[in-house]
Amino acid sequence: MVFLNGRFLPIEEASVPVLDRGFIFGDGVYELVPVYSLVPFRLDEHLARLERSLAEARIRNPHSRTQWRDIIYRLVDGQPFEDQGVYFQVTRGVAKRDHSFPKGVEPTVFMMANPLVTPPRELVENGAAAVTAQDNRWLRCDIKSISLIGNCLLRQLSAEAGAAETILFRDGRLTEASASNVFAVKRGMILTPPKNNLILPGITYDVVTELAQANGLPLELRDVAEQEVRAADEIWVTSSSKEVLAIVSLDGRQVGDGRPGPLFARMYQLYQEFKQKVMRAGKREAVSA
Ligand SMILES: Cc1ncc(COP(=O)(O)O)c(C=O)c1O
Repeated sequence: MVFLNGRFLPIEEASVPVLDRGFIFGDGVYELVPVYSLVPFRLDEHLARLERSLAEARIRNPHSRTQWRDIIYRLVDGQPFEDQGVYFQVTRGVAKRDHSFPKGVEPTVFMMANPLVTPPRELVENGAAAVTAQDNRWLRCDIKSISLIGNCLLRQLSAEAGAAETILFRDGRLTEASASNVFAVKRGMILTPPKNNLILPGITYDVVTELAQANGLPLELRDVAEQEVRAADEIWVTSSSKEVLAIVSLDGRQVGDGRPGPLFARMYQLYQEFKQKVMRAGKREAVSA
């Protein structure tokens, strides 16, 4: 069962007109919320980011926060599996093809829940490989836009190299990766770029920075030079589906001693404990680190 424009229906029966501006222009925004044991993780933060993406894209938000929550809970409760990835997107709607905004058009809302795929234990324990590339995407990476051709092209570079991610640099500085945020560790200090227009404000990025601060792990939000990443003792990527994943090889060269590092092990444990805390609190509670 999926949700399309106010109705729950089987995915085979869900269809969108070819003139939808999501199809024609990639003119829409999206979210992906991980759900553990039927409990959406950081739902309010995801909804706040959706509201911000819609406002920045100047797409009318068709639902109140309460309505969004209700739709998500109904979708989650209607699935036969407990750990889910709830994907939803809002496009500017269906209109004759013209770049400028149409008037009086209803946004299209689509939502589906799939089984959540997190990294297998082997990858968590041994770490993953990444390659690097120049970040050649647009300058509004803070909007969670469905126009993902830039990210797809960059992700494909790592896919073809048999690696898990493509880590990106712009003007000699770390931005993020094709579908995750990036942290580097040097001499016990955790480094990550501050949020700005060049990166997606990751919900997992926030959880990781909050957990570091709450547990006294040294953290600096600042510009990180490409050379610092290449010389890092540890590199992590974070996202709602990857959670926190150690990168142990960068462009074929070993990171640190080639094994997930001690700070990764600590953060991974803190993240798993935090998830457990959220699950125990139940789905309508907000939990802070
Ligand atoms: C480009 C990019 N950066 C960062 C992230 C991580 O965001 P989050 O932690 O909210 O999943 C994603 C997630 O899909 C992404 O696509």
